[in-house]
Amino acid sequence: MTKICCIGAGYVGGPTMAMIAHKCPKVEVHVVDINQARIDAWNSDVLPVYEPGLYEIVAACRGKNLKFSTAIDQAIREADIIFISVNTPTKTFGAGAGRAANLEYIERCARRIAESAHGHKIVVEKSTLPVRTAEAVKRILSASANGATFDVLSNPEFLAEGTAISDLLDPDRVLIGGENPAAIERLVDVYAHWVDRKKILTTNLWSSELSKLTANAFLAQRVSSINAISALCEVTEANVDEVAAAIGTDSRIGPKFLKASVGFGGSCFQKDILNLVYLCEHYGLHEVAEYWEQVVKMNDYQKARFTRNMVKTMFNTVSGKRLAIWGFAFKKDTNDTRESAAIYVCRDLLRENAILNIYDPKVAHEQIRNDLRDLMANEAGELNQLDRRLIDNNVHVVESTQAAASGAHAIAILTEWDEFKTADFERIYSQMQKPAFIFDGRNILDHQALKQIGFEVHAIGRRV
Ligand code: UDX
Ligand code: UDX
Repeated sequence: MTKICCIGAGYVGGPTMAMIAHKCPKVEVHVVDINQARIDAWNSDVLPVYEPGLYEIVAACRGKNLKFSTAIDQAIREADIIFISVNTPTKTFGAGAGRAANLEYIERCARRIAESAHGHKIVVEKSTLPVRTAEAVKRILSASANGATFDVLSNPEFLAEGTAISDLLDPDRVLIGGENPAAIERLVDVYAHWVDRKKILTTNLWSSELSKLTANAFLAQRVSSINAISALCEVTEANVDEVAAAIGTDSRIGPKFLKASVGFGGSCFQKDILNLVYLCEHYGLHEVAEYWEQVVKMNDYQKARFTRNMVKTMFNTVSGKRLAIWGFAFKKDTNDTRESAAIYVCRDLLRENAILNIYDPKVAHEQIRNDLRDLMANEAGELNQLDRRLIDNNVHVVESTQAAASGAHAIAILTEWDEFKTADFERIYSQMQKPAFIFDGRNILDHQALKQIGFEVHAIGRRV
């Protein structure tokens, strides 16, 4: 019986391992993490990660072939295949700060594996990593205390949050990079339980590592490209959704990732592009670095532009005005807020002295305050008095769209949650200040119907 261990019970490690356990009843899967509270949550009825369909799978496998614990060394000793799925945030200090990936957690994992392992193990990089990280992992492993031997594979995860379960069930491809064909085959066999072998691509280690960064850079580039065009649409009376539909029918372009928005977020896009930029600079490819950096700059511009437009439209001042913020997650169907455009928009509105009523169906109240604190704090993690006062006094996290909009001058849609489309806008309008503005940062509402009710509607890349 194959035994798998996964270090890191996060948004990637948790769902991926649950799917392996679900599809491979004869494989024993042990997910470990240094964070006891996170492990306790994985063992409870309220999982730490919200994903449609995830709970059902975890509940069906937990106690059978799926285990969550903090017994890291034991899990390493028992496993044949060890996945590393810890986070690799952007470095905030020292060389490469703000760009390079912080690999300290990866290194720590590799050292722990080297210390605890006996015999032969396959170590799989699941975390997204800069090219040639496997080199470092291999060197650390080769210093094993117990003479253990290792094969290192790269197996990046392409799931998107909010659709993790369907992405895992039916992936476009599974990518496995490595050197030893026997080790690669062992991992192919695991995925082949449910993925067509034709969709399991095998490459060398470095191609696999670089493919993940490149895929995210291309996806983010599409969003930044359409967002750039949205700014042009706003001044030319073109409609960005019509432009996207028109170009998307060209089979060479394709229809996906062309939705103009308030800006992309999530734990991967920005981090992976900055990483790519750092790598290019490291190798002296300055023009290549600059090219990709522009994708992130365009995204910053889009987020800042949204707030500027709100303020300008509302007679150049939002000071003391109550504003309803609908949605705080970086996209719908997830409770994840990492790099969410909402955090940046809310910060900028707070610094205009606005009062924010924030509602998100899945994000925890404390998370919203923590995200704002983290963004507004200085490098030492301290808030100045003014920002502290703004977060304490001007941020109200509420329980419904209705509560957020009551008494407000405007509603800003920052996440495309389905429930926002079916809100009772007649009633909401009657409870708002007039003129009542809607800023649809996701272009999801029926703008003509809202206008008929009386709202003044502003959208991304189109005149309403
Ligand atoms: C992470 C990376 O950010 C991403 O680049 C990669 O593709 C997959 O892994 P995610 O699962 O979303 O993504 O991260 P996160 O939800 O933060 O989970 C990481 C987990 O690793 C955390 O629960 C953390 O406690 C754990 N961890 C971290 C360890 O168990 N040991 C460590 O040394 C560091
Ligand atoms: C992304 C990749 O899609 C996935 O393959 C990889 O494994 C991790 O990074 P994720 O960040 O979970 O996944 O979500 P994604 O659906 O890619 O959306 C990223 C951001 O782009 C979101 O903020 C989303 O709202 C935004 N977006 C996406 C747009 O603004 N417009 C679009 O057309 C698509």
